Amino acid sequence: MHETLGLLLSSIFDPSSPQARKIVGLDYGFIAAASLVLLLVVGLTLFITIRYRFKKDDTEPNQITGNRRLEILMVGIPLLLVIGFFFWSLNTMSAILPEHGNHKPDVIITGHQWWWQATYPGTSINTANEIHLPVGKKILMQLEAADVIHDWWVPSLGGKMDMIPGMHNFLWVTIDKPGIYEGACSEFCGQQHAWMRIRVIAQTPADYKKWLREHELNATKPTDTLAKLGAALFMNASCSECHSIRGTNANGMQGPDLTHFGSRQTMLAGMMDNTTKNIDKWLTDPQKVKPGAHMPRFIFGADSVHALAAYLKQLK
Ligand code: CUA
Repeated sequence: MHETLGLLLSSIFDPSSPQARKIVGLDYGFIAAASLVLLLVVGLTLFITIRYRFKKDDTEPNQITGNRRLEILMVGIPLLLVIGFFFWSLNTMSAILPEHGNHKPDVIITGHQWWWQATYPGTSINTANEIHLPVGKKILMQLEAADVIHDWWVPSLGGKMDMIPGMHNFLWVTIDKPGIYEGACSEFCGQQHAWMRIRVIAQTPADYKKWLREHELNATKPTDTLAKLGAALFMNASCSECHSIRGTNANGMQGPDLTHFGSRQTMLAGMMDNTTKNIDKWLTDPQKVKPGAHMPRFIFGADSVHALAAYLKQLK
């Protein structure tokens, strides 16, 4: 939890897109204005306290009632501040949420309890949690929710947007440079809300094209004996009813698509590194690893777990 908070705070002030820079500019404006108001109020309070403190021989200071100039200032300055920030906020919003008109989304991201699904219109790609995007291009993201309200937020890339069942929300983002940008679901969505981490993998246009090409391919066929055994188990146990693996009979839509699972760096929405050991742990007892997750506990023996892990790991 602390790690998440640290991550979000550090990346808010480390913008990596023009949209995020607009937001951070507004943040600094708010912080500066609020600090000035605080200093003024505390300063004046201290001044009055000291200047007019009780003294034995004191007579009461002159009492003044009504001062038009002061009253105009008292109302006028806050009013100007509010009006200024109102227009500054509108201007920031319009940079992030402009009219998208007939523009087709580049990526559709759907929040699920508790993972992110990403599909790329015009391709057959359906992936999870690690969202690949090209740098230097203004990207339109369409944000959806499958079950309850989730909220998309990758602070260094810009806006934060609710994902609401039955609604289509949109955000623009233009990523400056390649890298990994972390974020998290920012609307409480149930037991594993804290482990609904986002990882945007920004790539050069050439690398992104290569990624698209590779991920359009169907799943690789297992070659070694253990992975083959795992594949058979996957298709015969209930795995294939909830998960899809393109090019096989597994076409469930409940859980993440696993066609290229082995190429992901992390698993369980950023909870763990994608290693054979962690896959073993997960398959042995999902409810112990991520309580409440919609993955039921199957009673697999250790041998079956190893075989399944070997199969999943080679799905590059
Ligand atoms: Cu999804 Cu919080």
